[in-house]
Amino acid sequence: MKGIILAGGAGTRLYPMTQIISKQLLPIYDKPMIYYPLSLLMLAGIQEVLIISTERDTPHIMNLLGDGSDFGINLTYKVQSHPNGLAEAFVLGEHFIGNDDVTLVLGDNLFYGDITFFKEAVASQIAKKDQFKARIFGYYVEDARRYGVVEFDKSTGKVLSIEEKPLEPKSNFAIPGLYVFDSRCVQRAKTQRPSKRGELEITDLIQTYLDDNELGVGVIGRGVSWLDTGTPDSLLEAAQLIATTQKRQGLMIGCLHEIGYRKGFLDPVAFSKVVAGLPSGPYRTYLEKTKD
Ligand code: G1P
Repeated sequence: MKGIILAGGAGTRLYPMTQIISKQLLPIYDKPMIYYPLSLLMLAGIQEVLIISTERDTPHIMNLLGDGSDFGINLTYKVQSHPNGLAEAFVLGEHFIGNDDVTLVLGDNLFYGDITFFKEAVASQIAKKDQFKARIFGYYVEDARRYGVVEFDKSTGKVLSIEEKPLEPKSNFAIPGLYVFDSRCVQRAKTQRPSKRGELEITDLIQTYLDDNELGVGVIGRGVSWLDTGTPDSLLEAAQLIATTQKRQGLMIGCLHEIGYRKGFLDPVAFSKVVAGLPSGPYRTYLEKTKD
């Protein structure tokens, strides 16, 4: 399983914070936003990740995360020159994906809590446990109009419909920016027509799997927090959630160095070396304690 983080977009709803910097580099409390979706991929065991961003922002993200070796993973980068839609990630990622399955996570989506739902989806996809070749997730929200929406049969779990930002949602289940596909998503995205707003819509790509009876939906339980961080309020709320939880537990959320170490992607010697090279401060002090 490979991973793609799509960290494009102009972030207009966050202007002027995004005038000179990508939204995915803005802080969520004590870490850049992109740390969180990357941590999700790592926690599910994904070590090969392609990061797609704009021409302006890709060099900054590369400066921040490098080749991933500090976290024991392998990061590569690709520029999306125009905001041509989420499904374009698979066109840009063709060579990276090859014949593998791939998870796409949006760079502004943050999950916190028990992520078994995602780990299980990844495991089932890799093991080809069922007929599903693409997997989406459903998260209960009060108002689903801002999101992709999935309608499904509650007793069988069968997906009935998916719609992008419907005025009258058929269910309260929003589709978070986290999707698992088989490698055929590349060819499908390549032959996809742009929508009325000129974008390759992720919902249209998902629809092709639904048409073929190959789409699975996993319901994310109510104990999990899914936040998207595209507005000043949602940014603040996410930061508060992270700060409150971290202070209570004394454990960091989305700490890439720690995750790389605990998952065994970095051996103790390599980890100590990386930590020794970090600037002194609370982040490094935390990691020094992690080792013990
Ligand atoms: C995108 C997707 C939408 C999804 C959302 C999750 O919308 O098009 O289906 O529910 O991400 O964050 P955007 O937020 O880019 O408008």
